[in-house]
Amino acid sequence: MPTTTLLLLLALTSNCFADIYLHNPRGSNNRLNEKSANRRNANRCFDSQNNNRGGYNVGDKTNQAFTAETGQHRMRYFQSGPTSGRGKSTLLLEWTNQHGCGGNEDTDPHKVNCNLVMQYMCQPQQGGPADDRDKLRNGANTLRQDYSPLNNARELRTETQQQKQNRKNGNVKSDRALQESWEWYDKCRIRQRNQGLFTADQRLRTNNGLGYSAAIYTRQNPNGNRYGYECPEERDYYPYWHPTDWKDIAIMPFNTSLCNWYQSESFNVKKQFECIENYPNSNNVRHRSRWNNEADCQSNGGQWIGFTNYLEYAPQLTTETACNAANGNAASPRYIWGIPHDALATRLQSRCLVALPAPDCVTAPWTRDNHLGNTRVGQASRYLWTLPHFPSGKEHNCIIRIRYNISTDDYDPFKTNSSHNENRVLGIQSPVQQNPNIDIGAGNSPLRLAINTAQYGRTFQDRSHVIKLMPRPAGLESSTIHNINVRGKRGNIVQTYPAVEYDFIPNDIKIKANDLIHFQWAGSNTHNNGNPAGDGQAGDAGEGTRGTDRNNIAQIRDKMENFPVPFENSTLWKNAELIWSGVGQPSSSSSEDIAVTMASAEDLFMHVCLKI
Ligand SMILES: *[C@@H]1O[C@H](CO)[C@@H](O)[C@H](O)[C@H]1NC(C)=O
Ligand SMILES: *[C@@H]1O[C@H](CO)[C@@H](O)[C@H](O)[C@H]1NC(C)=O
Ligand SMILES: *[C@@H]1O[C@H](CO)[C@@H](O)[C@H](O)[C@H]1NC(C)=O
Ligand SMILES: *[C@@H]1O[C@H](CO)[C@@H](O)[C@H](O)[C@H]1NC(C)=O
Repeated sequence: MPTTTLLLLLALTSNCFADIYLHNPRGSNNRLNEKSANRRNANRCFDSQNNNRGGYNVGDKTNQAFTAETGQHRMRYFQSGPTSGRGKSTLLLEWTNQHGCGGNEDTDPHKVNCNLVMQYMCQPQQGGPADDRDKLRNGANTLRQDYSPLNNARELRTETQQQKQNRKNGNVKSDRALQESWEWYDKCRIRQRNQGLFTADQRLRTNNGLGYSAAIYTRQNPNGNRYGYECPEERDYYPYWHPTDWKDIAIMPFNTSLCNWYQSESFNVKKQFECIENYPNSNNVRHRSRWNNEADCQSNGGQWIGFTNYLEYAPQLTTETACNAANGNAASPRYIWGIPHDALATRLQSRCLVALPAPDCVTAPWTRDNHLGNTRVGQASRYLWTLPHFPSGKEHNCIIRIRYNISTDDYDPFKTNSSHNENRVLGIQSPVQQNPNIDIGAGNSPLRLAINTAQYGRTFQDRSHVIKLMPRPAGLESSTIHNINVRGKRGNIVQTYPAVEYDFIPNDIKIKANDLIHFQWAGSNTHNNGNPAGDGQAGDAGEGTRGTDRNNIAQIRDKMENFPVPFENSTLWKNAELIWSGVGQPSSSSSEDIAVTMASAEDLFMHVCLKI
């Protein structure tokens, strides 16, 4: 129906505000500690395609704005306990997405086909990458990491391991954010792009100095812009067809009939391949190759190798037999013998790895078009993540990533490929055209539609700052741990938008006797929300020193009231027992002390486990 089509186009093309914003844990949208309402650098870590105003500052550790990353507070969550099914730790992820999602295709169709992909990436705090240049971090400034490309085919052929190392050493700065590794981006810029993909009438550049078009050029990124060390082809497509550093948490397709496919194609459970070549006159393997498929790889002297995704190493299981045998016990983790995908190592060695489960797959929550709003149940979109358990007992530094991907029914998102790309010579017209003129039967006046084919079928993204997944304190292995955090930031609705105002998350929770609650929040000292404020309003309406962001918790007698009750009248804290508290956090266990601490929140961040 024409009216439907028109509405749809309006929905998709008013994209000065498009977007997905992660609210818990607070998403960065590439912000770090800006005092301005606008983020400073949209290219800092990843391509969000979001509005400049979104995102939350990283937490500070003290009442001073940090000068080095050691002055930041990383949100920390206890891992789940060791025995499957018991001792779960749950973290409620919350986000808003703009163009709508969900809905039954037959009875309640949505204008867009949509899928959401939630993932995480981790490194152990101890025994992680040997080189500091490879460590996950937020950085202490908003600059993007540097990158020096190989300039021509000769350099591509002849670069030695030392030359590669020099290039990397010159690029990677310790005080800037690092999410994907330098090698990941270099690999992407050198690997030919997948030529089977639908690129509509976009002209993807080939000019990367190497004489071919690489995976940094996609329909959505035809000019090859760089965002941190993210690989544009991997960003735009899921499931990706080469090994990546990401582990899948959950997929939310618009139709769960796609779940079997997603769950079996996920890199969590399926090997992915890439072409491996050696350095010239060396047995050491390179991190990169031009070839993106088995035939090209082998005919050019490479090895087409399958890599395995995993939770962490299992170094205690040294042989394949021991690795497989350890799988027998239902109470133990599942193990897999394979070549770890992040093999920066100079040789390809199989080893025993803790296996990942297939991602969860559930219907996407229904949300309304062009509103960063609620689902039908009156709250923002949410997913309850059961945190992993790392059998090594190691603390891990991690990043959470959420992508929101929309397409329309103007072309079949799964069957449209390179054979439908605009090609004047072959007389092929792309099913969607840039800003087309449409004949609506009005004589000589066509209707011009605003369609950007680089954004027609489009992926948005947000990521958390670095968080920690902590081993549980002794004695708490089988407790259920619920995480309660504060989401949102200081200011009124127009000052904070498209971020949100404060709330606890979850703000309604049912727990069993003996369950534990991990209360945690972190403040910022640079939350001025000043100019430039882009297309919104600057300011940080609220009480307290300007530019500060602080939280606390006090009991009210009834949901309908606003004044906190005195301790004598409170019930919440009367039986509260302090089970655990972080370094520098209150260790006194009297209920009164707990109540006072929680209400006054003298410390900038709160990090305690309570039984209530
Ligand atoms: C999902 O797709 C199947 C097959 O195309 C269709 O029969 C079904 O109605 C769809 N389900 C929903 C909830 O839209
Ligand atoms: C493109 O899709 C068609 C079916 O729509 C299929 O026959 C063809 O093999 C595909 N081509 C590529 C390059 O994937
Ligand atoms: C987005 O959807 C398209 C289909 O329209 C698919 O090819 C692509 O892999 C999806 N990307 C992500 C990140 O989900
Ligand atoms: C506290 O409890 C006392 C005794 O029940 C009652 O008189 C008083 O009104 C209560 N105060 C508040 C603020 O609830």
